[in-house]
Formats: sequence, structure tokens, C-alpha cells
Amino acid sequence: MSQTTTGAHPDATSAPSDQALVHAVNVTKAFHGTEVLKGIDMDVHRGEVVVLCGPSGSGKTTFLRCINQLETIDGGRIFVDGDLMGYEDRGGTLHRLPDKRIAAQRRDIGMCFQRFNLFPHKTVLANIIEAPRQVKGTSRREAEAKAHELLEQVGLGDKPSAYPAQLSGGQQQRVAIARALAMDPKLMLFDEPTSALDPELVGEVLKVMRDLAKGGMTMIVVTHEMGFAREVADRVVFIDGGVVIEHGPPNQCLLNPQHPRTRAFLSRMRQEEAAHAEAVVATVTGKASALEAVAAPDDGAAPEEAAGRPPSA
Ligand SMILES: Nc1ncnc2c1ncn2[C@@H]1O[C@H](COP(=O)(O)OP(=O)(O)O)[C@@H](O)[C@H]1O
Ligand SMILES: [Mg+2]
Repeated sequence: MSQTTTGAHPDATSAPSDQALVHAVNVTKAFHGTEVLKGIDMDVHRGEVVVLCGPSGSGKTTFLRCINQLETIDGGRIFVDGDLMGYEDRGGTLHRLPDKRIAAQRRDIGMCFQRFNLFPHKTVLANIIEAPRQVKGTSRREAEAKAHELLEQVGLGDKPSAYPAQLSGGQQQRVAIARALAMDPKLMLFDEPTSALDPELVGEVLKVMRDLAKGGMTMIVVTHEMGFAREVADRVVFIDGGVVIEHGPPNQCLLNPQHPRTRAFLSRMRQEEAAHAEAVVATVTGKASALEAVAAPDDGAAPEEAAGRPPSA
């Protein structure tokens, strides 16, 4: 199977000149004749955390899926660690690599989605060792030792024997992150990893991601969590309509956006963040009053008495 790409950028055939781990040049992609990526250029350096944001339907997921070749591309080039993803370049013409070669390239890229997609009939431990065992042929003992380490890292050291259904969404997403890390990826792609979670569970997943970033992992994160972007991202990239409209350090991009569409997007995000904060307060308050109702004595005694402590004077 071979494929010629069209519309290649003059530079598109060049491998990364610097040390960029991800080097995407003029990437185009259409679905049924509708172009959803219209020439994306992006470099991500080793150890860099890039937050990708933009309105729904702007092409963020598609771009991530092109990086790890869950989607073919129509034009341009994507290099990961100097390797042209999905294709072989013969004299400027791209030929699709055999599936086996693509699978080998994808092994080095971890991906976490909005939905965690854990195997429901397998324990947490079995979920994590599955890929190293099946794909890399790692010994059971080695795979399990690493899985226990990773579970500690994501704060779930006590859960190896649990089944996904016994875990909260936040815990399941942390298992999914551990599962991706079990393959020792050089790059992690996150596609709205917290957007399916109850608001009070978002923080625990972001914490794991923040720790991962601090540990030097190269990450591309699609998220609407602007707090995370401000704190953790080295760079923010706005995509709209399949093109990068603005990018830069979070302080510049989030506090002083230049493009009207970026400004409009951010103002919408701020409204959502405020609503989100209210939802967290409502959930926490709701839980607190439920607890109080359980703890409250019927005779109207002060809470201190109910808790067996002397009432304060
Ligand atoms: N497999 C597909 N088939 C057809 N259209 C698709 C497919 N995947 C995505 N699209 C379309 O491509 C556009 C970009 O989608 P997506 O990359 O999911 O955007 P985002 O992640 O930014 O919300 C949307 O209009 C979407 O409907
Ligand atoms: Mg998406």
C-alpha cells in the first residue's frame, strides 16, 4: 500500500533540525472531503509540556491521533524522535509503512483518553501488565514489579487487585495513566483526560499529570483546565478551524492573548471554570451536609457533644 501526499510544505521532507521530540510540518487531514487539519506546524521539545486547546471540533483529537498514527495524514510530515511516523519517504513521495512497523513506532507513545478503556474483566494489575507482556514480551515478574511501582506513583499502591468497576473515575484514569507509562513511552498524549470526571475527582488526576511533567516527561495535553495550563504548561497552543492561531508561554497566551478567537475562547473557558468551581463547592457542601445529617444527634445537642468532646466555652 502506498500513498502520495499532496501539498507538502517545502520544508516538509526535512527531519528535525534541532532536538524537537515531535516535529510536525504542515500536517493536513480531511474526512470525507472536509479538511479538518489545514496545515499544522508544531515542535515539542524533550521534557516540554504543551497544552493544546481550542473550541470543540477544531481538530485537537484528530491531531493527537495523527501523531500516533491512529489516523493517516493526507499531507505534511510528523516526526517523533526523528522517526517519520507512519510513512517512508522515497524521493519526496510518502509510502505507508507496513502495520507492524507502525505498531512499533506507536509503542513509544502513551495515550490517555477521556474514556479510560480499561479491561473491565481484568484487575488493575492485569490491565497494567497486559501491554508490556503481550507487546514487549516482558517477563511477568518484571512487568508486575514495574506495575506496582507505577501504582505507587499514581497513588494507587493499595489497588492492584481491584477491578475497574470498584474504582472511581479518577482512580480509573490514574490506572489508565499507569498503564500507558508501563510501556516506558518517550511521549505522552492526553486527550481531555479529566473532562468525563466528576468535578471533585479532577484534581487527583491533574496531580498525577503535574508530577509526571515535573519528572521530565514530554507531554501534549488537550485540556480545558486553564489552571493546569497556567501552572504546568511550558507552552500553550490554540487551534481553531484546523490551524494553529496562536502559541506561546502560558503567561503570554492566557493572560494577554492576541487573536480575537483566542480571547473569545478564553472568556468562555473562564465562565466554565467559574461554573466548575461552583459545582465543586456544591458537591463538597452537599457531601458535608449529608455527613452532618448522619452525625447530627436528634436531641439538638451541639456537634462537639455529639463527637464526644466537651462543648467549647
Ligand atoms: N472519524 C471521523 N470521521 C469523520 N469526521 C471526523 C472524524 N473524526 C473527527 N471528525 C471531524 O473532524 C473535526 C475535528 O474533530 P476533532 O479532532 O475531534 O476536534 P476536537 O478534538 O478539537 O473537538 C470535527 O468536525 C469532527 O466532526
Ligand atoms: Mg477532541
